[in-house]
Amino acid sequence: MNAEVLIPAVQTRREGAVLVVSIHNPPVNALGQAVRAGLLAAVEQADADAAVQAVLIVGEGKAFIAGADIREFGKPPVPPSLPEVCNRIEASNKIVVAAIHGAALGGGLEVAMSAHYRVALPAAKLGLPEVSLGLLPGAGGTQRAPRLMGVKAATELMLSGKHLSAKAGLAAGLVDKLVEGEDPQATGLAYANELLAAKAAVRRTRDIEITDKAMALADLQMLALDTAKKARGLFSPLKIIECVQAAVNLPFDEGLAKERALFTECLNSPQRAGLVHAFFAERETAKIPEAKAAAPRHFAKIAIIGGGTMGAGITVSALDAGLTVTMIERDADSIARGQANVEKVYNGLIAKGRMTEEAKAAIMARYTPSTSYDEIADVDLVIEAVFEDLEVKKAVFKELDRVCKPGAVLATNTSYLDIDAIADATSRPQDVIGLHFFSPANIMKLLEIVVPAKVAPDVVTTAFELAKKMKKVPVRAGVCDGFIGNRILAVYKQAADYIMEDGASPYEIDEAVRGFGYPMGPFQVTDLAGGDIGWATRKRRAATRDPKARYVEVADRICENGWFGQKTGRGFYLYPQGARVGQADPEVLAIVDKERAKKGVTPRQFSADEIMRRYMAAMVNEGAKVVEEGIALRPLDVDVTFLSGYGFPRFRGGPMKYADMVGLDKVLADINEFAKEDALFWKPAALLQKLVAEGKNFDSLNKAV
Ligand code: 3HC
Ligand code: NAI
Repeated sequence: MNAEVLIPAVQTRREGAVLVVSIHNPPVNALGQAVRAGLLAAVEQADADAAVQAVLIVGEGKAFIAGADIREFGKPPVPPSLPEVCNRIEASNKIVVAAIHGAALGGGLEVAMSAHYRVALPAAKLGLPEVSLGLLPGAGGTQRAPRLMGVKAATELMLSGKHLSAKAGLAAGLVDKLVEGEDPQATGLAYANELLAAKAAVRRTRDIEITDKAMALADLQMLALDTAKKARGLFSPLKIIECVQAAVNLPFDEGLAKERALFTECLNSPQRAGLVHAFFAERETAKIPEAKAAAPRHFAKIAIIGGGTMGAGITVSALDAGLTVTMIERDADSIARGQANVEKVYNGLIAKGRMTEEAKAAIMARYTPSTSYDEIADVDLVIEAVFEDLEVKKAVFKELDRVCKPGAVLATNTSYLDIDAIADATSRPQDVIGLHFFSPANIMKLLEIVVPAKVAPDVVTTAFELAKKMKKVPVRAGVCDGFIGNRILAVYKQAADYIMEDGASPYEIDEAVRGFGYPMGPFQVTDLAGGDIGWATRKRRAATRDPKARYVEVADRICENGWFGQKTGRGFYLYPQGARVGQADPEVLAIVDKERAKKGVTPRQFSADEIMRRYMAAMVNEGAKVVEEGIALRPLDVDVTFLSGYGFPRFRGGPMKYADMVGLDKVLADINEFAKEDALFWKPAALLQKLVAEGKNFDSLNKAV
């Protein structure tokens, strides 16, 4: 029998006059029903026992309480509710102390704020991150936090979802005392006894008066204006502000009622479903079949081949992860440029006051520049980021095969090339894998880990371990042209080109895509990345393109003028005097018109809704093909790829989750409708047809691997 199941979620024991209430709900003491019921019973027990003078709430394991149990959202509520539990804690006639040694987040901090006194240990993390799940603090947090820490600071905490350190929590008034140490029970007991000795009174957060209401309301108005601008379609941030306004204007219980009503609205919103899906999906992608069988190989010293855009970004990521890096370039000039590319990142941080010269020097001490492959004979792992050319890469891998020690992991950052072919250029294909970073590699979270046919399982787990060290979001992908992300991107970009040629301007398309929640539209992205990159790929593929497939030449015409986007001052947009935000360009519209005329297309109107239906249908259909072919393990891997690497609006959960929410039958009906115009492009994925026929959704395929 599993000993775990015998341990109750909440246990109580007496230590003198103190009732110690400890929470045991691994891994993070989420406030599931058993914890809520246990806490309620414990307070009732304390109130009924004359021998008890104080209650100490502590968490076992790493966390104090990481919040409500996110898995319960969307299911029928089971009493007692968390607000009820918090109110009952606060109402206790014994002094209640919370001892916080780890995460006290969301409902966890709400429990702590309902206690009468709070002591924190140095590793405590305090926050109200509900906003990142499409929610607001729903167990009194919007009413108690402003009373404890002031209206402005509390609202900013809730809007940002940030975690505060113990020290910051003390400064903010969230905790009363900070004590060095690691044992929350001993610390909490000592504090409770100290309070009893001092005859400290029951002290309820609800009784704190919010003073200077006029100033508080003015601050909230400013925050509301700022939030309306920044929240880009998000639902819960403005609701948080409404709740805090209620905290200022209304008696406590009426404020709580307002919070409850708005929390329920957020809970029932599709944004909550999307954001909660994103939360779990991002944790799920790290779970891969190889993990059960193969422990990662050891790595500490690594080599990066190429110090261009990607090589330098990956080097920064590796240095920041504590690794030792040797960068290899072709010649003295190139390696000097490579090092300058790396230092530029740190110098930028120094200029912003976010890094000291000493810290930079300490990091750069782990960096060695070189032009000789012989210097990397002893590294544990290599990441190649040279030009995107199969022959160049094969030559590099032959060289790596010659110099690297047996068992070294050899990775390529190729965007599109055949990694099986790169692996076969070596005598050790079992050690070769794809590590597809995104630009800028030191910032972007996504890392596609591309698994070729002959790779050993422990090389795959090593890659996932590297992702963890670098704080990346890893997604396992199979080998194909473009892997998961760029393959799907190529298809919906094509859909956007068709919409443009059929009548919408690139500006209308970008606007519709932004209206959907993306930070930028596809033509803005092309201008930012540089139109020449896509142009080179199109030229390379021209020979193998299906002559029957529709091909839009607008982007080629634009590149032929030398208009490569921001870096050349114009692309699809104009960027006068180095402006970062582009302006519509009548000459581009004239090119589009000319191309339409050449193809005999009579332009028609597109609503933003139709643009997005086409854009998303193309994305989802190719996503289904990627899952069907096993390139992505599950639909959620496609979702995470787009959330972390392509700016897909997080509140929609990812393209596959979005399709589930719209209804797969509707998406398929759209594809069939569009296929009447172009059956070659709009070929419905077999998987999509099968799921619709069976009445299932993508989520039904998201089971653990
Ligand atoms: N409910 C359910 N499961 C949770 C959870 C929660 N609140 N928080 C974490 N978990 C699970 C994770 O899914 C993961 O499960 P897995 O091992 O099966 O994948 C496991 O706990 C460990 O989580 P992490 O991998 O994230 O562990 P870390 O140590 O990296 O991070 C953490 C720990 C900082 C607590 C992080 O998990 C976190 O930020 N959790 C969410 C906190 C949060 O958003 N709380 C607010 C909830 S909403 C709320 O409280 C509403 C209330 O106002 C009414
Ligand atoms: P880049 O042109 O900026 O840098 C390439 C570097 O490789 C140059 O500094 C060059 O001197 C060096 N190099 C070439 N041959 C070499 C050799 N034999 N030995 C050592 N160094 C050599 O190119 P970028 O953009 O950094 O791309 C590199 C790789 O990363 C490509 O495979 C590309 O497809 C991939 N990639 C690029 C992304 C991007 O957005 N730029 C995103 C993801 C992947």
